[in-house]
Amino acid sequence: LTQWPGLIEAYRDRLPVSATTPVVTLFEGNTPLVPARALSEQTGCEVYLKVEGANPTGSFKDRGMTMAISKAAEEGAQAVICASTGNTSASAAAYAVRAGMTCAVLVPSGKIALGKLAQALVHGAKLLQVDGNFDDCLELAQKLAVDYPVSLVNSVNAYRIQGQKTASFEICDVLGGAPDVHCIPVGNAGNITAYWLGYREYADTGVVDAAPRMFGFQAAGAAPIVMGAPVARPTTIATAIRIGNPASWSRAEAARDESGGLIDAVTDKQILEAYRLIARSEAVFVEPASAASVAGLLMTVADGRLPRGSRVVCTVTGNGLKDPDWAISGAPKPITVPVDGHAAAVSLGLA
Ligand code: F0G
Repeated sequence: LTQWPGLIEAYRDRLPVSATTPVVTLFEGNTPLVPARALSEQTGCEVYLKVEGANPTGSFKDRGMTMAISKAAEEGAQAVICASTGNTSASAAAYAVRAGMTCAVLVPSGKIALGKLAQALVHGAKLLQVDGNFDDCLELAQKLAVDYPVSLVNSVNAYRIQGQKTASFEICDVLGGAPDVHCIPVGNAGNITAYWLGYREYADTGVVDAAPRMFGFQAAGAAPIVMGAPVARPTTIATAIRIGNPASWSRAEAARDESGGLIDAVTDKQILEAYRLIARSEAVFVEPASAASVAGLLMTVADGRLPRGSRVVCTVTGNGLKDPDWAISGAPKPITVPVDGHAAAVSLGLA
């Protein structure tokens, strides 16, 4: 048994690194592509979940961060900065530790999940809660990166996109070809950009015959690309994608248009239903934003835009443990029993 070497080593020839790039890795990537039996049955498609919550800090951000931090180290950076709805900050904080850098993060005050806040803090990031939303945080982080000696590691950093494109490589490598359709949540729109880049690269170099259609899904209260205009006050329970003015807006539209795909909105109700379904039927615990991909799959199969019989991969972007509130609030309250076999059996409906 040999250890997976991390995605930079695994895909070195397709990434902008050289022999002298110091590789900063937590052995991210190589995440499970889980056949989704219940979803396949329900949709009449061949559905897989790309479980990105299995990355070291529990989200797909690690793919981008291993590249961004390695390149920052190569350039001699000693400090990095990012704006975040939580996962980017968790990942940046961890990889900065690995690289011996300091990490500053700007998060929207009161609007990130507790698990993600805990991650940034435990890894020793300098965390500022900004009185504003993610879009305000990103603007501030970009300004600080211009005015002070800190490297920006948001997905406007091209190395982030390069790292994240490897998810498409893994999917094609495992399936022996590209899927017909790829469903993905859209927030700041870096990830849909990255997946499209990866698929296109594999198609252009003949590794796969064709790239899939990209189906992106925003939360209905934070759906600027769908509405065609920035949303000043985005709202959704899926805090990870509570973004009103995505940095990679036009590249997401290019991914949609070049692939013959779509970008649509799913409501918080659809997101929560999909969230529970993934946990109950597929045994995969994701965070609410991640369920937007599956909510979108169900919606577009139901209305006929996603043809039955298709091979579909849904990226589920982050681990459910980061934001457990929605798991607990939707579940029956646990019953407390004395240390008594009969009482326990009665409560369990066994007696
Ligand atoms: N899913 C999760 C769990 C995320 O954390 C994010 C983005 C997305 C989906 C959307 O990806 O922005 O590339 O379109 N989270 C960022 C953050 C914004 O700060 O952690 P995207």
